[in-house]
Amino acid sequence: MKKLIVANWKMNPATLAEAQDIVAKIDEHVRGLGAGAQNLDVVFCPPFVFLEDVATMLGEGMLADVARLGAQDIAALDDSAQTGSTSLTTSGEVSGPQLAKLVVRYVIVGHSDRRYKLGESDEIVNAKLQAALRNGLVPIVCVGERTRSTGSGQACEGQWQDALKAQVVATLHGLTPGQVSQCIIAYEPVWAISTNPDAKPDTPSSAVESIVLIQQTLSSKLKAQSSKFLYGGSVTPANADDFLQRPEISGELVGGAYVRAEDFCAILSVATRHE
Ligand code: PGA
Repeated sequence: MKKLIVANWKMNPATLAEAQDIVAKIDEHVRGLGAGAQNLDVVFCPPFVFLEDVATMLGEGMLADVARLGAQDIAALDDSAQTGSTSLTTSGEVSGPQLAKLVVRYVIVGHSDRRYKLGESDEIVNAKLQAALRNGLVPIVCVGERTRSTGSGQACEGQWQDALKAQVVATLHGLTPGQVSQCIIAYEPVWAISTNPDAKPDTPSSAVESIVLIQQTLSSKLKAQSSKFLYGGSVTPANADDFLQRPEISGELVGGAYVRAEDFCAILSVATRHE
C-alpha cells in the first residue's frame, strides 16, 4: 500500500503568496522524485481561505497525480435549516456541501486542538464525522490520549489505554462497519504534538501498540475495521522513516514540519521508499 502523508497546515501561512511558494517548492520536489512519486499519496489541508487556490495549484503541476485536497474542519450541520443537538452550530462554520464543491476530498475531524483547546466533545466530533461521510468526504479521524501519567508524574498503567478506547468508541459511535472502513484513523497522542509544552514524538513501537489497541477496540466494540492508520505528533525528516517502516502505520499526519517546505519535501522523499 502506498504511504499517505497528510499535511495539516493549521493556521499557516500568513499569505496566499507564501502558500503558493510552498506548494510550488513541493511540486518541484515531487517532479524530481520521478517514478518514486508513484509510491506516494499526499493530502494538503490548508486553512479554508486557501482551499480554492490550492485546488487550482494542485490541478496544474506534478502534484495533480499524487496530491489531494483536505479541509481541517467541517460543520456538523449541512445548512442552517438542518436541526441537530443544541451543541451544534452553523455560525462561522464551513459546511460539507460547500467543501465538496471545492473538490475537497478529505477532512480532519477530532484534532486535539479542537477537542481540548476549543472544547469539542466526542458528540460534536461524531456529528462532524457523520457530516463528512454524508457529503462523500473521507474523514481523517484523530484520536489519542492526552497524557500517560498521573498528576504526580507516575506512569498509570491501564488508565490511558481505557481513555483511548473510550474515545474511539464515542467518536465512531453509530457508524456502520462500512462507514468505519471508509475512515482514516490518525493516532495522535496529544503529548506528542509539537505545539504542546515538552512535546516529544512517540516511539514507533509504542505508536504501533496504540494502533493495535484501536484496531482491537474497533473490532470488539463496533464490529468494524479500518485499514488505514496514520501516526501524528512531532514527525520530522529525522524520525519519519522509523514510523513508516512499520506495516501497521499507513502514513503520517504532519503539522509543524509542513511549514518548512524543505522538511516536508524530505519527509516525502522518505515516504517514497516504502510501498
Ligand atoms: P505536529 O502536529 O506534527 O506539529 O506535532 C501534528 C498535528 O497537529 O496534527
